[in-house]
This record gives sequence, C-alpha cells and structure tokens, in this order.
Amino acid sequence: MPTLMNRQIRLKSRPTGLPTLDNFQFVEVPLPPLEAGQVLVSSRFISVDPYMRGRMSERKSYVPPYALNEPIAGGVVAEVVETKSPNFAVGDIVLCGYGWQTHAVVHEDQIRKINPSLAPISTALGVLGMPGLTAYFGLLDIGRPAQGETVVVSGAAGAVGMIVGQIAKIKGARVVGIAGSDAKVNYLTQELGFDAVINYKTSPDLNRAVAKACPAGVDVYFDNVGGSISDAVLAHLNDGARIPICGQIALYNLEQADVGPRVQSQLLIHRALMKGFIVGDYSARFGEGISQLAKWVQDGQLKFKETIVHGFDNTVNAFLGLFSGENLGKQLVQV
Ligand SMILES: NC(=O)c1ccc[n+]([C@@H]2O[C@H](COP(=O)([O-])OP(=O)(O)OC[C@H]3O[C@@H](n4cnc5c(N)ncnc54)[C@H](OP(=O)(O)O)[C@@H]3O)[C@@H](O)[C@H]2O)c1
Repeated sequence: MPTLMNRQIRLKSRPTGLPTLDNFQFVEVPLPPLEAGQVLVSSRFISVDPYMRGRMSERKSYVPPYALNEPIAGGVVAEVVETKSPNFAVGDIVLCGYGWQTHAVVHEDQIRKINPSLAPISTALGVLGMPGLTAYFGLLDIGRPAQGETVVVSGAAGAVGMIVGQIAKIKGARVVGIAGSDAKVNYLTQELGFDAVINYKTSPDLNRAVAKACPAGVDVYFDNVGGSISDAVLAHLNDGARIPICGQIALYNLEQADVGPRVQSQLLIHRALMKGFIVGDYSARFGEGISQLAKWVQDGQLKFKETIVHGFDNTVNAFLGLFSGENLGKQLVQV
C-alpha cells in the first residue's frame, strides 16, 4: 500500500504585527504506521481562532508559544479512517487538537467522539465547542446578567460574541452589541433579536453611541476586543457592574503596549468587578455547558452561524480574515 501523505501548515517565523502568508510554510510528510491504541483520522473541519495569534509570539501567556517549524495546533473535527483502538470505529467523527493538518495519527486518549445526531459536526468547534463554552461560562459565571439588565458585548458578530448576546437574551437582559459592519449590525438585530448594535467602524463618537444605545447604563460588559471600544463602554458602567475579560483582539497585533484610560477609578466608584478568564478554567463543567447549549440549539432559542472557507490551502487566509472581520459567527475551514 502506498504511504499516505499528510499536509501541514507550520509556523515558519514569528510575525511582527499582523501575520502574513510568509510566516507560514506548507509541508508534506508521510504518516507513520498505526500502533495499538491509535487511529488515523482525516480532517473535515479545521478551526482558526484569534488566540492562535498570541501563540505565534514568544510572549509568556497561559499556553506556551507555538514552536517554529511545527504545525499550528488547534481544534479539528475529523473522521476516523483507520483504527487500532477498540473504542473507535472507521467513520466515527471525533474532536481533535492537532491543528492545521489534513491527517493525523492520534492516540485514543487525545480525541473525543462527537455525536452527529445532536447537531452538524462543525458545531463541535463553534456553538457546542470552545467558543460556545467560553460564552456560556464567561457570561453566566462572571457576568451573571439579571432580567432587565443591560449587557454589552464587543466582537458581537463573532463566534463567542453572538452566543453571549443570545444567552443574555435568554436570561431576559437588554442586549447591545458592538460589531464592525452594517451587515453584521443587521444580522444581530434582525436575526438574533439584539436590542441595539453599534457599528464601531462608522460611529464618529463611540462614547456617545454607547450612551445612546444604553440609556440605563451598562450592567455587564463582555469584553472580546479591548482597546478604544472598551474604553467607550467602561465610561458607562452602573454600580455593581460585572466585566468578564474574554479577549483583546484589538491588541493582538500591536508591538508596543497599549495605554488607555486607567480604569481603576471607574471600578472603584461603581464597585464593579472586572475578571479575566480562560475557558479551560471551567473544564470540569464542560459537560454541563455542552448539554445546556445543545438544549438551547435544539429548542431554537440559540442560533448559530458559521463562515466556511473551502480547501486546506485557504487556512492561513481564513485565520488572517479574523483580524479584518471577514467572518460572521464561527470561522472554519472545510478540508
Ligand atoms: N478567554 C477565553 O478562553 C477565550 C476563548 C475563545 C475566544 N476568546 C477571545 O474572544 C474573542 C472572540 O473570539 P472568537 O473566536 O469569537 O473570534 P471572532 O469574534 O469570531 O472573530 C474575531 C472578530 O474580532 C473582530 N475584530 C478583529 N479585529 C478587531 C479590532 N481591532 N477591534 C475590534 N474588533 C476586531 C472582528 O469582527 P468585527 O467585524 O466586529 O471587527 C472579527 O470578526 C477574541 O479576542 C478571542 O481571543 C477568549
């Protein structure tokens, strides 16, 4: 039998500012033969995520940087094509973490079976996967929105933000999104029932736009982006506000530290809570999160949206598109 080849995208050099295609290298390597307890999988959907930008730098973070000349690790939904594990059959759909590769030989302990009857398999990388869980725990555990409160979410039309807004609606909050195009504004208001959405790219005065969209102030600010968008929202906190810090994508490509308004006075005056979190902090409760998210999806209370780029060769471009807002909902690559 001819040796099966695997295509990989490796980090060739560490980006300065916004990454470019030159920072990556496509290579083809033979796959090793299967050993006991291993399966050979073929990638169906590959995830591209903003956090990957952080791992491309050498800066110390909550996960180690990617090594140079190694494939970019990340979430993948794959199909088992050959097996030496009694627990996995050919045709099983599994969630893996080997990242930007067309195939992989993985040990059975490193993968989890996905139930294709629950929802489309791609959702294991979106609403029923890491982004959905991020929204669920960050909003409910830290944001704790109450009926009638105002919840503001930045990055509102992305994988996490769109789920945050909908869960906040389920909890009876008034939801204000911030997103980067009129098409996104229309989708969030018309399809998902957000109460107001600000297009931060066309609003001449973000501070005034937030004041207008939040006449009763801000009780919860779910921060996906940081930077000047967050400065504008934090100027409108109510007493007892909660601010889950989920992401700071507006800063990921900066080479110099960003200096904004110092927020401590606002937090003090309003007895507000600002707390950073990483979804993995909640791993012991992932089962609870996935079953609640799946129930909402099945009930029709939680809609999901995916932007799918076709072809493994387009993976890097799909990733780069996250920084210019090409995606509506979860950005995926169909291999
Ligand atoms: N804490 C955790 O465990 C955790 C887990 C998952 C994700 N995150 C973070 O959560 C955030 C959202 O992640 P996601 O996977 O849902 O990505 P996403 O929102 O689906 O995609 C990124 C979006 O960010 C917006 N964006 C890009 N550059 C921006 C800028 N300079 N200023 C404002 N908005 C910008 C773009 O939308 P626009 O068109 O609106 O600009 C883009 O569509 C990221 O910061 C990510 O790092 C954290």
